[in-house]
Amino acid sequence: MPSDDTNNPPFEIRVADRVTRLPPYLFGRINKMIYDKRVGGDDVIELGMGNPSDPPEKEVIEKLVEAARDERNHRYSKNIGIANLRREVASKYFKRFGVRLDPDDEVITCLGSKEGFSHMCLAMMGPGDTALVPTPYFPVHVYAVALASGNVIQLPVTDSDKFLAAIAHTCETLYPRPKLLLLCYPHNPSSVTVEQPFFDEVVKLAKKYNLMVISDFAYADVAYDGYKPPSFLASPGAIDVGVEFTTMSKGYNMAGWRVGFCAGNREMINALATIKGYYDYGMFQAIQIAAIVALRDTQAAVEKQSLIYQGRRDALCDGLVRLGWADARPKAGMFVWQPIPEPWRSRMSTMDFAMLLLDKGNVAVSPGSGFGPAGEGYLRMSLVENEERLRQAVRQIKACLKEAEAEYSGKQPETAAAT
Ligand SMILES: Cc1ncc(COP(=O)(O)O)c(C=O)c1O
Repeated sequence: MPSDDTNNPPFEIRVADRVTRLPPYLFGRINKMIYDKRVGGDDVIELGMGNPSDPPEKEVIEKLVEAARDERNHRYSKNIGIANLRREVASKYFKRFGVRLDPDDEVITCLGSKEGFSHMCLAMMGPGDTALVPTPYFPVHVYAVALASGNVIQLPVTDSDKFLAAIAHTCETLYPRPKLLLLCYPHNPSSVTVEQPFFDEVVKLAKKYNLMVISDFAYADVAYDGYKPPSFLASPGAIDVGVEFTTMSKGYNMAGWRVGFCAGNREMINALATIKGYYDYGMFQAIQIAAIVALRDTQAAVEKQSLIYQGRRDALCDGLVRLGWADARPKAGMFVWQPIPEPWRSRMSTMDFAMLLLDKGNVAVSPGSGFGPAGEGYLRMSLVENEERLRQAVRQIKACLKEAEAEYSGKQPETAAAT
């Protein structure tokens, strides 16, 4: 039989709108330049991603190896997580925040908190539903809602009182009312922090306007100068209205392991478990067993890790202040959210400034505009390099801007230079 291929229209891969609607990846240009520079032999100081560079505790790795050697651990595990791990999470919440959780119905494990958060959006949101999201935003906070076909209203996060007022105003004026409120404190990227009374107010608003709450508490374990990030779940009534995500990626240096948790409202947890029941078979059991050891026995190491980040924060911020930049020292989280100093802020876009630091200074940072328009004028600098490398980064920034200034002034037409 002759093929009738020639009579058919060309075959076409038709990707779903939910994929094609996503915006281009803003960090693509930067990542390409980092790659090209490294291939060319340049030593790039990487302050872009919040990807911890220190290892987990030895005993945790040893437990993983031991558990991996046990043949019983290689089958599919429970997709909500093994009971002992969920108990350990509940126990940590009680010891640290005084929050009582039923490990059977109010805690679930996730393949990293990002997976859990995204699937929670899928479980809660649909066409016509609206979520309130703090801005500048961690991209997943917006795009997980969009992927679930929900709408996003962005509320500026910088001033917490105004943020609360904006929630109330939006709930009063928007019809249909927003369904979901996303919180993230310590906030990525802006490093904004709050105290417990903020969450108390959130619970009141949530009850008044029937607004479900998701708290992304990824930086629960990384805080400085004695500051203790509060848990949303510790506010009275929080468990009636929402859930909180935590992770072992940051404080425990286990980012590649993909261990996250969701705790709180049992109906929301049950909805997430239902979605996950269709999508995954749970976490490798050896990882869950090692995670129990990490949660139970390595709290001192988590606190030490915060001190390491604090030292790095000071090395970076002291250096930038000496260059005349604003002191943007965070109280928590892994990032310095740094306003770009004048005259550079007026001269060029945030993306171009970040590209300049990379191109001429071999220092990679995240341009604030990668976190939405509210991030324009800022850089996010992560504290994943050691203190010496951070001091070196400051020296390279200084030299790069001196050179760029000379070039820039040289290029100005005389009339402009004179004014
Ligand atoms: C605010 C925030 N939430 C969630 C995540 C993802 O954490 P996980 O590794 O648990 O998926 C990150 C990681 O950078 C983050 O910054």
